[in-house]
Amino acid sequence: MDDLKILFVDDEREILSIVKEYLSLRGYDVMVADNGNEALEAIKEKGFDIVFTDLNMPGCSGMELLAATKEHLPETEVVIVTGHGTIESAIEALRLGSYDYLQKPIKLERLKILIDRISEKNSLKRENILIKRRLKERYQFDELVGVSPKMQEIYEIIDRISINTPTVLIQGESGTGKEVVAKVIHQNSGRKGMPFIPVNCGAMVEGLLESELFGHVKGSFTGAIKDKIGLFKAAEGGTIFLDEIAELTPNLQVKLLRVLQEKKIRAVGDTSEYNVEARVIAATNRNLEEAIKSGALRRDLFYRLNVVSVRMPPLRERKEDVPLFINYFLNKFNVLTKRKVSSISQEAMNALLNYNWPGNVRQLENAIERAFVLGVGESIELTDLPSEVREFAEAPRRMGATLNLKENEIILIKESLDKTGGNKAKAADLLGINLTTLYRKIKKYGMLPICD
Ligand SMILES: Nc1ncnc2c1ncn2[C@@H]1O[C@H](COP(=O)(O)OP(=O)(O)OP(=O)(O)O)[C@@H](O)[C@H]1O
Ligand SMILES: [Mg+2]
Repeated sequence: MDDLKILFVDDEREILSIVKEYLSLRGYDVMVADNGNEALEAIKEKGFDIVFTDLNMPGCSGMELLAATKEHLPETEVVIVTGHGTIESAIEALRLGSYDYLQKPIKLERLKILIDRISEKNSLKRENILIKRRLKERYQFDELVGVSPKMQEIYEIIDRISINTPTVLIQGESGTGKEVVAKVIHQNSGRKGMPFIPVNCGAMVEGLLESELFGHVKGSFTGAIKDKIGLFKAAEGGTIFLDEIAELTPNLQVKLLRVLQEKKIRAVGDTSEYNVEARVIAATNRNLEEAIKSGALRRDLFYRLNVVSVRMPPLRERKEDVPLFINYFLNKFNVLTKRKVSSISQEAMNALLNYNWPGNVRQLENAIERAFVLGVGESIELTDLPSEVREFAEAPRRMGATLNLKENEIILIKESLDKTGGNKAKAADLLGINLTTLYRKIKKYGMLPICD
């Protein structure tokens, strides 16, 4: 039983005292009032989960009390208590929103059943609200896991571009979920229901890729034994996802630019052009600034693609999402494999949380899958994790976590080397000591194998 607050209103004092005693003895938080006006005051002031009210009372009647309660506290359930002969009024009260009615003489058992029923209904309602809220927080878009501020920004972008469906460029390290996001962008647009066609631009030689993308006519090259429509055409009305866009050859970059500008395509070996209407979402894990500088990527193509820019954050920048991913992948592999894993040991969890995940979500997914393959029992243990992750079972020690001078020096030296990418001269600068002193300390503390 949860802490229900109950008000019982009746002008017969005897009834009030019986009810109060009965309910109080059973642990309910119950208050009584012997007239409608006093009851109304109490309702406004204190709020109740359930109000039982007699129909005919001096002052404010039961019907009026019902209306006023529903107005002030729409969630409060009102039960009308009626004598014989007022059953029509009780039915009228049901119509006006009362939960049920209770006939006099009051049977205490029935009173309790009613309270329990309302209590159960309320807790279900509360649970539903909580579940819905949690689901909304976690999976704002069905397939996208993540509640971190960086992911919230991405959800906002997805929402904003759901109507106009502009060209999108998704950048981010390998395994951060670029393809997942591209699919969600498609699903969350008016093009949902139309094709979503992913193409890996880095996986094919130029000639083949051109014919894949734009199609070819029969006889245009050896092996072209019949006309073939390209993936752009196949994505008509939907979305074509061009992955690894920076790998396109200069020739294909020009052709793609033309598609984006004119929405026209010429199939390999064809003399005429035809129109296509496919939305383009492109992705890359390369640094495009550098690709443009080195001439590998045309600047004008970059601008055409980068109408809306989405940057997928690396997992290490959204560590708060790691437990969600763990949960998500546990569910996934519980469904896919015969093992049923319901928990994860604290040590294993610590390691997964402390590790830096250079391979991002894909690496985390692989680590959990590996644990399913290697482990036994219902829990994932530290020993089920890859060795590079296992090492992180203990939280990294922070400066000041110990008072030992040597330990703190080691922590500081490691941090300064981390920050400077291992550059000892810069690290010595950061530490405010000269380079020789740094070398001496590194040697003294036996840190050489770690740092070099
Ligand atoms: N936000 C996410 N929610 C659910 N699963 C995710 C999410 N991000 C990534 N994943 C999962 O991680 C794996 C890698 O994602 P994806 O293939 O989209 O990465 P990517 O950025 O395209 O990587 P690459 O650059 O290597 O192609 C997939 O198995 C995908 O299902
Ligand atoms: Mg990808």
